[in-house]
This record gives sequence, structure tokens and C-alpha cells, in this order.
Amino acid sequence: MDTEQYTQVRNSIKRKLQIDLSNYKDEQMKRRLDSWLARTHLDSWSDYFSLLSGDENELAKFRDYLTINVTEFFRDPNRWDTLRQEILPYLIKNAAENRQVGGLKLWSAGCSIGSEPYTIAMLMAEAAPGTRYSLLATDLDRGALQKAKARGPYSQDDIRNISPAQRRAYLTTTAPHFVQEALQKNIRFQEQDLFADRFESGFDLIVCRNVVIYFTAEAKDQLYTKFQAALRPGGVLFLGGTEIISGPSKYGLQTFGISFYKKI
Ligand SMILES: C[S@@+](CC[C@H](N)C(=O)[O-])C[C@H]1O[C@@H](n2cnc3c(N)ncnc32)[C@H](O)[C@@H]1O
Repeated sequence: MDTEQYTQVRNSIKRKLQIDLSNYKDEQMKRRLDSWLARTHLDSWSDYFSLLSGDENELAKFRDYLTINVTEFFRDPNRWDTLRQEILPYLIKNAAENRQVGGLKLWSAGCSIGSEPYTIAMLMAEAAPGTRYSLLATDLDRGALQKAKARGPYSQDDIRNISPAQRRAYLTTTAPHFVQEALQKNIRFQEQDLFADRFESGFDLIVCRNVVIYFTAEAKDQLYTKFQAALRPGGVLFLGGTEIISGPSKYGLQTFGISFYKKI
């Protein structure tokens, strides 16, 4: 699609779905939109938007597609091992030294259908059983959040990195798998647009993985600055495997191992 058409489609999407695509990489998004329209077998975007107006189900599917909510439990297991073995003990020690009240404050930003916050909750239960914590889990996609709040159901692909012992401890025994209710008790799910909505502050750990990968350089700049402000001093930002910040000091961050950045 050409630039003029993309601008029109973007405006309609903003009006109908309240998603501002100007923060997402143009070429990638245009390609995704082209293949979406091809899949519908309709001739034009105006036909598609007319169809969308009366169809909540299609609207939800389109929203899912645009926000790209692919996820799984313990995505990139090695990074979660680092969080378990190095970052969490550091955060706990930091909190004790600073006599922090209220326990650790954690945030899964762009939590999709919940695999990421439930991964964090499993990790807290195993690696820091006595530690108090609260976990905010946010996403723009209402449908994804609904599934997260319902604790599933999760597919075999979603749970492939969960060990047999963890499955016994945290999941319902028969397929389709749901997460046990107890794992949800410290989690607060909330709809939030990372660009349009305000951030809470005082976080020890912000996990924002495989989200900024779709954003423009300017949008990333804006987000890293806001994440830094939302961390408490010494707090840690945990990004996805390919989301490397070059020159983190310009955001008031320093590299703290692969995928981890500490607030200076
Ligand atoms: C690829 S998923 C990553 C899920 C999880 N963090 C992981 O790594 O498995 C990206 C998520 O970011 C969310 N997202 C995209 N744009 C967003 C925005 N502007 N504000 C909040 N969430 C957004 C999507 O809805 C989607 O659930």
C-alpha cells in the first residue's frame, strides 16, 4: 500500500480501535495490513472498515493481529534463569538494604495473554518463596487481557518450556491447561496503552519483552525514558532477546547483563 493509503488506514484504525500505529514501524505494519486484507478477500479497506463496524468478533481478531500478541511461558529460558539466579537475589538484597516497605514492585508491560506475568509468579514462588511482591500486568489488547485474567486456556505450544514438576504445581492437570488460581493472587491486570496512558512509579523490575521490537526509534526513545522514570533507583528493566539499547546511559540506564538494564 502507498503512503497516502497507509495514512488513511492508520487514521481509521485510530478512530475505530484507538490504536495509534504512528508508533509502529511503517514498512512492517504496511506488510501486515496488506496480508490481512488479502486474507479477507475484500476489494478495499473501505469495504473492510464497513464490515468491521457491525462485527465485534472481527474487530477483536483485527486488534489481536495488529498488536501481535505472540507469547509463551519462560520465553528465552536462559534469560529467565539469569533473572532467577542473579537479578532477583540482587533486587531482594537491594530492597532489604533500603528497608523497602510493601515488598517488591514488579511490572509486566505488554503481558499479552498472561504467560509472562504467570512465569514471573512461578519464579517468585520458587526462587523467593518468602518475599512479598505485587505484580502489575498491562496490555493494550483487551481480548488478550481477558484470557490472562481467566488464567487460560493455554496451548501445548504456550507451555512447552514449563517443566513437568512446574506443570504439576501450577497448572490444571488436564488439557486445556489453566493456571492455578493461587498463582494469580499478587497480580493486578490492567488495560494500558504504553504511549497514551500514564505509568505508575517505584518499580523494582519492569519486564517489557518483545514489545518495543515493533516500535519506531522515536517511540522506543520515549518508552525507555518513561521506563527509567518508573523504576526506583537501582531498579531493573528486562527487555527481549533482540531489543538491545545502544548507549543506555543517555536514558539513565546501565547494562546489567544480557537483556537487563539497571537504573543509574
Ligand atoms: C509479542 S507480544 C509479547 C508478549 C510478552 N511480553 C512476551 O514476551 O511473551 C507484544 C504485546 O505487546 C502489546 N502491545 C503492543 N503495543 C502496545 C502498546 N502501545 N501498549 C501496550 N501494549 C502493547 C500487544 O498487545 C502484545 O500483547
